[in-house]
Amino acid sequence: MKLLLQAQNLRSGYGEMEILHGVSMTLEEGEMVALIGPNGAGKSTLIKTMFGLLRPTEGRVLFRDTDITGFHPRDLVIMGLGYVPQTNNTFPTLTVLENLEMGAITRRISPIPLPWNRGSQKRTQARMTDAQIRKRATETIELFPNLQPKLREAAGSLSGGEQQMVALAKSMMLDPDVLLIDEPSAGLAPKLVDNVFSKIVEINKQGTGIVMVEQNAKKALAIAHRGYVLETGRNRFEGTGDWLLHNTDVGKLYLGGQG
Ligand SMILES: Nc1ncnc2c1ncn2[C@@H]1O[C@H](COP(=O)(O)OP(=O)(O)OP(=O)(O)O)[C@@H](O)[C@H]1O
Ligand SMILES: [Mg+2]
Repeated sequence: MKLLLQAQNLRSGYGEMEILHGVSMTLEEGEMVALIGPNGAGKSTLIKTMFGLLRPTEGRVLFRDTDITGFHPRDLVIMGLGYVPQTNNTFPTLTVLENLEMGAITRRISPIPLPWNRGSQKRTQARMTDAQIRKRATETIELFPNLQPKLREAAGSLSGGEQQMVALAKSMMLDPDVLLIDEPSAGLAPKLVDNVFSKIVEINKQGTGIVMVEQNAKKALAIAHRGYVLETGRNRFEGTGDWLLHNTDVGKLYLGGQG
């Protein structure tokens, strides 16, 4: 198995406040990994640090063999990483179709010169015309048939479950090798949680490696290949989804009371 993404001994946080005190994790090609742990453990902080939204004070992030520590998210998206944030992950006033198109904005050929369009060979190679972006949107939507009839509706007018699907669809526009997903089931009714989870499994089966943060730990571990339990900014447990699900300590401390 080849390593796709690695966090090595990351220390990271907000300003002076260190939240991650040396956290490590790996994701292999084709794998789905769940990140669980109590509120405030640093799960979102870990994902944000891997995606270049926060710069670690120590440690490294590797994507395949490339050290991507401190890379700008815009460049990471072009390299094949995707990120679905915990909140505010769609543009509510844009239509579903426009949201999808925004998922490819970093590759759009701009009519005006933008600072980040200068220089990089890689970026120029990857440019897409508006027609190509539109075509890609119609391909992407095939994975989300429920959204098909709602393409012209404002994303903000859809249900919570549908909005989560829009966020996922948007992140699939550039067919990422790795998708970092932060709490996809937050605020959803149980049936919708299952819908969103099965969509994530489908995306993973098509070859995208997935790191998923979840409060719904039991369900997440049931679909993940492996999982990590974080607590107060440190690695606490790691193992296969199955092993974590049946580990007595993990169960008592982190899975209690969940259906
Ligand atoms: N933008 C921020 N500025 C300052 N502190 C922050 C910020 N975001 C998060 N924190 C703090 O960092 C700590 C870890 O937060 P983080 O969001 O990573 O936790 P989490 O494990 O994702 O929790 P949750 O399950 O509630 O989403 C918390 O104490 C939180 O208050
Ligand atoms: Mg979080």
